[in-house]
Amino acid sequence: MLRVEGLVQHYGESNILRGVTLEAREGRRLCLMGRNGVGKTTLLQCLMGLVPPSGGRVLYRGRDITRLAPERRARLGIGYVPQGRQIFPLLTVEENLRIGLPARRDGDRAVPESVFGYFPVLKDMLRRRGGDLSGGQQQQLAIARALALGPELLLLDEPTEGIQPNIVDEIVRAVAKLASELGMTVVHVEQKVPVARRAGDDYAIMERGSIVDSGGMGDLSEEKIRSFLSV
Ligand SMILES: Nc1ncnc2c1ncn2[C@@H]1O[C@H](COP(=O)(O)OP(=O)(O)O)[C@@H](O)[C@H]1O
Ligand SMILES: [Mg+2]
Repeated sequence: MLRVEGLVQHYGESNILRGVTLEAREGRRLCLMGRNGVGKTTLLQCLMGLVPPSGGRVLYRGRDITRLAPERRARLGIGYVPQGRQIFPLLTVEENLRIGLPARRDGDRAVPESVFGYFPVLKDMLRRRGGDLSGGQQQQLAIARALALGPELLLLDEPTEGIQPNIVDEIVRAVAKLASELGMTVVHVEQKVPVARRAGDDYAIMERGSIVDSGGMGDLSEEKIRSFLSV
Protein backbone atom coordinates (compact mmCIF):
# COMPACT_ATOMS: atom_id res chain seq x y z
CA MET A 1 0.00 0.00 0.00
CA LEU A 2 2.75 2.42 1.04
CA ARG A 3 6.42 1.91 0.25
CA VAL A 4 9.13 4.27 1.35
CA GLU A 5 12.49 3.75 -0.34
CA GLY A 6 15.69 5.34 0.92
CA LEU A 7 14.00 8.58 1.96
CA VAL A 8 16.44 11.37 2.84
CA GLN A 9 15.57 14.76 4.30
CA HIS A 10 17.55 17.74 5.56
CA TYR A 11 16.69 20.81 7.59
CA GLY A 12 19.42 23.12 6.39
CA GLU A 13 22.67 21.37 7.20
CA SER A 14 21.09 18.79 9.50
CA ASN A 15 20.42 15.43 7.94
CA ILE A 16 17.23 14.29 9.66
CA LEU A 17 16.11 11.31 7.54
CA ARG A 18 19.04 9.16 6.45
CA GLY A 19 17.55 6.68 4.05
CA VAL A 20 14.23 5.49 5.49
CA THR A 21 12.95 2.27 3.96
CA LEU A 22 9.57 1.09 5.15
CA GLU A 23 6.44 -0.71 4.02
CA ALA A 24 2.89 -0.38 5.32
CA ARG A 25 0.73 -3.25 4.14
CA GLU A 26 -2.87 -2.85 3.11
CA GLY A 27 -5.43 -3.20 5.90
CA ARG A 28 -2.76 -3.44 8.58
CA ARG A 29 -1.74 -1.10 11.38
CA LEU A 30 1.95 -0.28 11.50
CA CYS A 31 3.32 1.27 14.69
CA LEU A 32 6.30 3.50 14.08
CA MET A 33 8.33 3.68 17.26
CA GLY A 34 11.49 5.43 18.37
CA ARG A 35 12.84 7.88 20.90
CA ASN A 36 12.23 11.63 20.82
CA GLY A 37 13.91 13.50 18.01
CA VAL A 38 14.77 10.53 15.76
CA GLY A 39 12.65 11.88 12.88
CA LYS A 40 9.24 10.21 13.18
CA THR A 41 7.26 13.42 12.71
CA THR A 42 9.53 14.55 9.87
CA LEU A 43 8.91 11.22 8.13
CA LEU A 44 5.12 11.59 8.41
CA GLN A 45 5.38 15.17 7.12
CA CYS A 46 7.35 13.89 4.13
CA LEU A 47 4.72 11.19 3.53
CA MET A 48 2.01 13.85 3.51
CA GLY A 49 4.04 16.21 1.31
CA LEU A 50 4.36 18.94 3.93
CA VAL A 51 8.15 18.73 3.99
CA PRO A 52 10.21 18.05 0.84
CA PRO A 53 12.63 15.12 0.93
CA SER A 54 16.08 15.54 -0.59
CA GLY A 55 16.28 11.97 -1.84
CA GLY A 56 14.49 8.64 -2.07
CA ARG A 57 10.93 7.77 -3.08
CA VAL A 58 7.45 7.41 -1.66
CA LEU A 59 5.21 4.95 -3.49
CA TYR A 60 1.47 4.81 -2.77
CA ARG A 61 -0.37 1.94 -4.40
CA GLY A 62 2.65 1.60 -6.67
CA ARG A 63 2.51 5.23 -7.78
CA ASP A 64 5.43 7.58 -7.15
CA ILE A 65 4.01 10.44 -5.06
CA THR A 66 7.35 11.78 -3.78
CA ARG A 67 6.81 15.27 -5.26
CA LEU A 68 3.02 15.49 -5.03
CA ALA A 69 1.41 18.40 -3.14
CA PRO A 70 -0.41 17.59 0.14
CA GLU A 71 -3.87 18.31 -1.34
CA ARG A 72 -3.23 15.85 -4.15
CA ARG A 73 -2.21 13.20 -1.62
CA ALA A 74 -5.36 13.87 0.39
CA ARG A 75 -7.40 13.34 -2.79
CA LEU A 76 -5.59 10.06 -3.40
CA GLY A 77 -6.80 8.88 0.00
CA ILE A 78 -4.03 9.74 2.44
CA GLY A 79 -5.24 11.17 5.74
CA TYR A 80 -2.99 12.90 8.25
CA VAL A 81 -3.45 13.61 11.95
CA PRO A 82 -0.57 15.81 13.13
CA GLN A 83 1.21 15.52 16.44
CA GLY A 84 -0.41 17.81 19.00
CA ARG A 85 -3.80 17.48 17.21
CA GLN A 86 -3.93 21.03 15.80
CA ILE A 87 -7.67 21.37 15.77
CA PHE A 88 -9.08 24.89 15.47
CA PRO A 89 -9.94 25.90 19.05
CA LEU A 90 -12.31 28.75 18.13
CA LEU A 91 -14.28 26.79 15.54
CA THR A 92 -17.06 24.44 16.59
CA VAL A 93 -16.64 20.68 16.43
CA GLU A 94 -18.85 20.63 13.33
CA GLU A 95 -16.82 23.38 11.63
CA ASN A 96 -13.62 21.50 12.45
CA LEU A 97 -15.10 18.38 10.84
CA ARG A 98 -16.22 20.24 7.73
CA ILE A 99 -13.05 22.19 7.13
CA GLY A 100 -11.28 19.65 4.95
CA LEU A 101 -14.32 18.46 3.01
CA PRO A 102 -13.48 20.36 -0.21
CA ALA A 103 -10.57 17.90 -0.53
CA ARG A 104 -12.94 14.91 -0.75
CA ARG A 105 -12.49 12.96 -3.93
CA ASP A 106 -16.20 12.27 -4.43
CA GLY A 107 -17.22 15.92 -4.10
CA ASP A 108 -19.42 15.09 -1.11
CA ARG A 109 -19.67 18.10 1.19
CA ALA A 110 -21.35 16.47 4.20
CA VAL A 111 -19.57 14.92 7.16
CA PRO A 112 -20.13 11.17 6.72
CA GLU A 113 -22.37 9.79 9.47
CA SER A 114 -20.03 6.82 9.84
CA VAL A 115 -17.46 9.09 11.51
CA PHE A 116 -19.75 9.29 14.54
CA GLY A 117 -19.92 5.52 14.68
CA TYR A 118 -16.21 5.51 15.44
CA PHE A 119 -16.28 8.53 17.75
CA PRO A 120 -19.84 8.81 19.15
CA VAL A 121 -18.85 11.40 21.76
CA LEU A 122 -18.47 14.00 19.01
CA LYS A 123 -22.10 13.69 17.95
CA ASP A 124 -23.29 15.42 21.13
CA MET A 125 -20.67 18.14 20.86
CA LEU A 126 -21.16 19.49 17.37
CA ARG A 127 -21.94 23.02 18.58
CA ARG A 128 -19.13 23.22 21.12
CA ARG A 129 -15.90 24.99 20.38
CA GLY A 130 -12.96 22.71 19.72
CA GLY A 131 -10.94 24.45 22.41
CA ASP A 132 -13.56 23.60 25.05
CA LEU A 133 -13.12 19.84 24.54
CA SER A 134 -10.83 17.75 26.74
CA GLY A 135 -7.46 16.73 25.30
CA GLY A 136 -8.74 13.25 24.54
CA GLN A 137 -11.86 14.59 22.84
CA GLN A 138 -9.73 16.98 20.78
CA GLN A 139 -7.64 14.03 19.63
CA GLN A 140 -10.78 12.14 18.65
CA LEU A 141 -11.92 15.23 16.77
CA ALA A 142 -8.57 15.45 14.97
CA ILE A 143 -8.87 11.81 13.85
CA ALA A 144 -12.53 12.29 12.90
CA ARG A 145 -11.57 15.33 10.81
CA ALA A 146 -9.18 13.14 8.84
CA LEU A 147 -11.82 10.39 8.53
CA ALA A 148 -14.34 12.87 7.11
CA LEU A 149 -12.26 12.85 3.92
CA GLY A 150 -12.60 9.08 3.53
CA PRO A 151 -8.92 8.12 3.66
CA GLU A 152 -7.59 4.69 2.77
CA LEU A 153 -4.24 5.31 4.44
CA LEU A 154 -4.26 7.08 7.80
CA LEU A 155 -1.12 8.67 9.26
CA LEU A 156 -1.41 9.22 13.02
CA ASP A 157 1.35 11.11 14.82
CA GLU A 158 1.36 10.23 18.54
CA PRO A 159 -2.43 10.20 18.91
CA THR A 160 -2.22 8.95 22.51
CA GLU A 161 0.31 11.51 23.76
CA GLY A 162 -0.86 13.13 27.01
CA ILE A 163 -4.28 11.48 26.93
CA GLN A 164 -6.02 9.69 29.78
CA PRO A 165 -5.95 5.86 29.56
CA ASN A 166 -9.67 5.27 28.97
CA ILE A 167 -9.63 7.58 25.92
CA VAL A 168 -6.42 5.94 24.71
CA ASP A 169 -8.37 2.66 24.75
CA GLU A 170 -11.24 4.22 22.80
CA ILE A 171 -8.84 5.56 20.18
CA VAL A 172 -6.98 2.25 19.83
CA ARG A 173 -10.30 0.38 19.48
CA ALA A 174 -11.66 2.84 16.92
CA VAL A 175 -8.51 2.60 14.80
CA ALA A 176 -8.60 -1.21 15.02
CA LYS A 177 -12.20 -1.10 13.72
CA LEU A 178 -11.17 1.16 10.84
CA ALA A 179 -8.61 -1.43 9.80
CA SER A 180 -10.86 -4.46 10.26
CA GLU A 181 -14.14 -3.02 8.96
CA LEU A 182 -12.91 -0.71 6.20
CA GLY A 183 -9.56 -2.29 5.42
CA MET A 184 -7.87 0.98 6.23
CA THR A 185 -4.08 1.00 6.34
CA VAL A 186 -2.65 2.82 9.36
CA VAL A 187 0.76 4.25 10.21
CA HIS A 188 0.63 5.12 13.91
CA VAL A 189 3.56 6.84 15.58
CA GLU A 190 3.62 5.59 19.16
CA GLN A 191 6.22 5.97 21.91
CA LYS A 192 4.50 3.90 24.59
CA VAL A 193 5.32 0.22 24.14
CA PRO A 194 2.22 -1.19 25.92
CA VAL A 195 -0.01 0.95 23.71
CA ALA A 196 1.95 0.01 20.59
CA ARG A 197 1.48 -3.68 21.39
CA ARG A 198 -2.28 -3.19 21.15
CA ALA A 199 -2.28 -0.57 18.41
CA GLY A 200 -0.02 -2.27 15.87
CA ASP A 201 -0.16 -5.43 13.80
CA ASP A 202 3.36 -4.61 12.65
CA TYR A 203 6.10 -2.39 14.06
CA ALA A 204 9.07 -0.42 12.78
CA ILE A 205 11.69 1.18 14.98
CA MET A 206 13.46 4.37 13.99
CA GLU A 207 16.81 5.55 15.26
CA ARG A 208 18.57 8.71 14.08
CA GLY A 209 16.76 8.95 10.80
CA SER A 210 16.55 5.37 9.64
CA ILE A 211 14.59 2.20 10.35
CA VAL A 212 16.72 -0.18 12.41
CA ASP A 213 14.22 -2.97 12.98
CA SER A 214 10.76 -4.02 11.84
CA GLY A 215 8.44 -7.01 11.89
CA GLY A 216 5.17 -8.37 13.18
CA MET A 217 4.22 -6.98 16.61
CA GLY A 218 4.55 -10.48 18.09
CA ASP A 219 8.26 -10.34 17.27
CA LEU A 220 8.95 -7.15 19.23
CA SER A 221 11.13 -8.57 22.00
CA GLU A 222 12.07 -7.02 25.34
CA GLU A 223 15.66 -7.02 24.13
CA LYS A 224 14.82 -4.84 21.15
CA ILE A 225 12.80 -2.55 23.38
CA ARG A 226 15.78 -2.18 25.72
CA SER A 227 18.27 -1.45 22.97
CA PHE A 228 16.16 0.83 20.76
CA LEU A 229 13.43 2.38 22.87
CA SER A 230 14.44 2.71 26.52
CA VAL A 231 15.51 6.19 27.59
N1 LIG B 1 11.22 22.72 11.29
C1 LIG B 1 12.41 22.22 11.71
N2 LIG B 1 13.56 22.87 11.47
C2 LIG B 1 14.75 22.37 11.87
N3 LIG B 1 14.90 21.20 12.53
C3 LIG B 1 13.78 20.51 12.80
C4 LIG B 1 12.48 20.97 12.42
N4 LIG B 1 11.57 20.07 12.82
C5 LIG B 1 12.27 19.08 13.44
N5 LIG B 1 13.58 19.35 13.42
C6 LIG B 1 14.64 18.49 13.99
O1 LIG B 1 14.56 17.24 13.34
C7 LIG B 1 14.82 16.18 14.27
C8 LIG B 1 13.71 15.19 14.22
O2 LIG B 1 12.53 15.79 14.72
P1 LIG B 1 11.13 15.04 14.67
O3 LIG B 1 10.88 14.57 13.29
O4 LIG B 1 10.12 15.98 15.26
O5 LIG B 1 11.39 13.80 15.63
P2 LIG B 1 10.37 12.86 16.44
O6 LIG B 1 9.01 13.07 15.89
O7 LIG B 1 10.90 11.49 16.25
O8 LIG B 1 10.46 13.28 17.89
C9 LIG B 1 15.03 16.83 15.62
O9 LIG B 1 16.41 16.95 15.86
C10 LIG B 1 14.41 18.19 15.46
O10 LIG B 1 15.06 19.13 16.28
MG1 LIG C 1 7.25 13.65 16.76
